[in-house]
Amino acid sequence: MKSSQSLGNPSLESKEETLRLSIEKLVYGGYGLARHRDKVYLVRFSAPKELVDAEVIEEKKDYAEAQVRKVVIPSNSRRSALCPYYGVCGGCQLQHIEYTTQVEEKENILVETLERIGKLKDVNLLDPITSGQEVGYRIRVQFKVKNGRLGFFRWDEHEVVDIEECPVAHRRINDLIKPLKECIRPIKELQEIHVLYSPSKDEFLVKFITPTQIERGLLESLKEELLPPEVVGVGDYSRLRTVLNRRFWIGKEYTFVDVGPWTYRVSADSFFQVNWTLWERFIEAVRQNVSFRKAIDLHCGVGFFTIPLSERGNFIEGSDSNPHAVSDAEYNAKINGRDNVVFVRSDAYRHLKSRGGEVLDLVVLDPPRSGLEKNEIELLTKNKPERIIYISCNPSTLARDLRQLVKSGYVLEGVRLVDMFPQTYHIESVSYLRVQE
Ligand SMILES: C[S@@+](CC[C@H](N)C(=O)[O-])C[C@H]1O[C@@H](n2cnc3c(N)ncnc32)[C@H](O)[C@@H]1O
Repeated sequence: MKSSQSLGNPSLESKEETLRLSIEKLVYGGYGLARHRDKVYLVRFSAPKELVDAEVIEEKKDYAEAQVRKVVIPSNSRRSALCPYYGVCGGCQLQHIEYTTQVEEKENILVETLERIGKLKDVNLLDPITSGQEVGYRIRVQFKVKNGRLGFFRWDEHEVVDIEECPVAHRRINDLIKPLKECIRPIKELQEIHVLYSPSKDEFLVKFITPTQIERGLLESLKEELLPPEVVGVGDYSRLRTVLNRRFWIGKEYTFVDVGPWTYRVSADSFFQVNWTLWERFIEAVRQNVSFRKAIDLHCGVGFFTIPLSERGNFIEGSDSNPHAVSDAEYNAKINGRDNVVFVRSDAYRHLKSRGGEVLDLVVLDPPRSGLEKNEIELLTKNKPERIIYISCNPSTLARDLRQLVKSGYVLEGVRLVDMFPQTYHIESVSYLRVQE
């Protein structure tokens, strides 16, 4: 039996054979953890402290994966899901759990991961930055397209769940779904549509990803005739594994996003933080109690943190391996009137190497999910900046890297959850480290 859409409903029955399991807590991935006869079960769509009947989906070496078929005694935090596609669509894992419990469970997972993988004791958990809204927070969405359907992959297979709306996406991105669906048929072998929305400008940049080049005239006419005027730029892209390659672009290649007193130019191929409801608080959490003579921001993107940080010290350098992001960042330094910041295109390793032997008061890190490279950590610990602020979107790689940093003489002063992705299992955080006296 496939997953059901009515998982918010505790009376769901199944004909499959089930096990009665008591859920202790959530674990990374959005599963509930239960133990039965010395075996660990990871149970999808369960909530902490509830009793469920679950069907085993897959036996693994050390544990089994299971799915709730009937909630026998529901958790106090269980609620009806917010979205009609929940339980089928793979985008969200925690909609059936009250938001405050989602935050508490993510904090527990973060601390447990730092203890287990990072071997860190007595982690000082600081107040979380919660999302300003549980829904409507995403300004970037990557839709999948297959067999005329537009939506997201099912959680259990690579089939696209056709959607009319997505509650976590910004309301204006939802307004765009219908016109985007009209573009599917004319474009051959269309696989994905990526949307970036600027709430400040009410503008969209849209990328179409397909293995076969789109005829330029076709994309021009889709932009003019099917898409609303707020779609100011569209591009034709191919994908090679994780890398998107642009074939051509029509219209404006960037938009502008205001965050508090700062304005950022964001190009179609640059990164920008997804959740607009916490941007300003996130920046304040990174630059609180910061002062420096010289700092570097090693994964600076368009300067999201670098520019606000530059107000707190004498001189800061930002670097990023993405040339589009660096060119946006340079532009952003100018429009925000910052003359004590310099941006360079460089990967983190090369930038650190070029600054070997320099006295650095602060290094800011915000690497991709894979975390830091081993050689980056080696250079960092040789250089020994006074403070390190590590922003992470993956608690496992964070824990691995913090372990090395603490071993080499840093003290982890505190860690803070930043709930960038409500309704999903993803965990963003900021860690504050200081070199041991
Ligand atoms: C999670 S984003 C953060 C960007 C920025 N701090 C922000 O908040 O908008 C990670 C950034 O790291 C960059 N990046 C990925 N691998 C890198 C590397 N090895 N060296 C430097 N930058 C890298 C990406 O281009 C991306 O801009």
